[in-house]
Amino acid sequence: MKLHRIGVIMNGVTGRMGTNQHLVRSILAIQRQGGVRIKKNEAIMPEPVLVGRKEDKLRKLAKAHGLQNISTNLAGVLADPKNKIYFDSQSTKLHVDSMLMAIDAGKAVYCEKPTAESLEKAVQLYQAAERAGVKNGVVQDKLFLPGLQKFAKIKQQGILGKILSVHGEFGYWVFSGHNAEQTPQRPSWNYRSEDGGGIIVDMHSHWRYVIDNLFGRVKSVLTHAETHLKERIDENGKVYTCTADDAAYAIFETEDNVLCQFNSSWVTRVRRDDLFTMLVNGTEASAVIGLRKCRLQKLSSTPRFVWNPDVDIPVDPNNNWEEVPASETYDNAFKNQWELFLRHVVLDEPFPWNLREGAKGVQLAEKSRQSHRQRRWLDLEELPE
Ligand SMILES: NC(=O)c1ccc[n+]([C@@H]2O[C@H](COP(=O)([O-])OP(=O)(O)OC[C@H]3O[C@@H](n4cnc5c(N)ncnc54)[C@H](O)[C@@H]3O)[C@@H](O)[C@H]2O)c1
Repeated sequence: MKLHRIGVIMNGVTGRMGTNQHLVRSILAIQRQGGVRIKKNEAIMPEPVLVGRKEDKLRKLAKAHGLQNISTNLAGVLADPKNKIYFDSQSTKLHVDSMLMAIDAGKAVYCEKPTAESLEKAVQLYQAAERAGVKNGVVQDKLFLPGLQKFAKIKQQGILGKILSVHGEFGYWVFSGHNAEQTPQRPSWNYRSEDGGGIIVDMHSHWRYVIDNLFGRVKSVLTHAETHLKERIDENGKVYTCTADDAAYAIFETEDNVLCQFNSSWVTRVRRDDLFTMLVNGTEASAVIGLRKCRLQKLSSTPRFVWNPDVDIPVDPNNNWEEVPASETYDNAFKNQWELFLRHVVLDEPFPWNLREGAKGVQLAEKSRQSHRQRRWLDLEELPE
């Protein structure tokens, strides 16, 4: 077997996403399967270099997975020509500076979303990558989820007819930490705007590529945001003031005139099919998309509901939905995209999810915050090349 060994610098790898999704579920899973097979006797083998600020944490993570290569010196690992890819999953605020260092060093760069805190910086980042001629990408994992892939397929077959509207519901209750038995399940920086937190910047950067890809380019936005919980407890048991939005209520309109109404909240309890669902209403059918499943109700099986509050609902609204079958076996969404990025770097295959696409997510988040402050609809301009 001929192996293309590619050093992958993973900065921020001790974090939640870095460890679970990118190191364990993607890079190590690719190693375990013998690399990304590109020909019968040829494969790409990623070799992670774990980078962060704290040596003890890196050492512990490396030991847990039988890895050797760790460093607290980013400039040092960037200078090593064996390392061809730089990947950034640090907290959002830190992406741009480190990514620019990697671009300067001529590495192919791949970044968690949102790529930057402001549109200005996100544009600066993709323009720097373009100028330097380095391959670049942004994580857009939701597109690779089984539920969304199944939907994309039935949509392409025209089963829904004309798509009219989408109702997206994202969220769950993130514990505040006030009760010692219910520890917060997300890092505290998410709830401080000065540290790059906030649900708009986090989730609207996802909604941009989800909507652009499935329902047409987002052309305008109306958002209202709230910080429902004013106080939480951090990783060290200290009370802190929440300065970032923890819920956002938004309407996005696409160029195809699809109205997409999305609620995103870390302060809601779940009574729906999944932590993220989209109800898509089309003239011929509606679909409910979850992370892994997609259900369909055709016009012919749509119940004829008649408003009558005096009796219990006569038909269970959860009936009359058929599950869209899997047409392939679905792998981890992050791993799927990693494999495509590795192929892009080694084989020059197309990779449309570049930093300019990443900047569009930042643009939607920025416009959403502006819309909230100004309490009005705002249009999104085309981004510069
Ligand atoms: N694609 C997705 O679905 C998804 C989901 C959650 C988070 N994210 C994104 O992933 C990134 C990381 O989020 P996370 O939830 O893993 O956060 P996290 O806090 O768990 O991890 C952040 C990492 O950055 C490092 N870091 C923090 N402050 C630093 C500093 N001052 N200097 C150097 N390193 C520092 C931490 O040590 C850690 O390794 C964010 O950009 C976030 O928006 C993406």
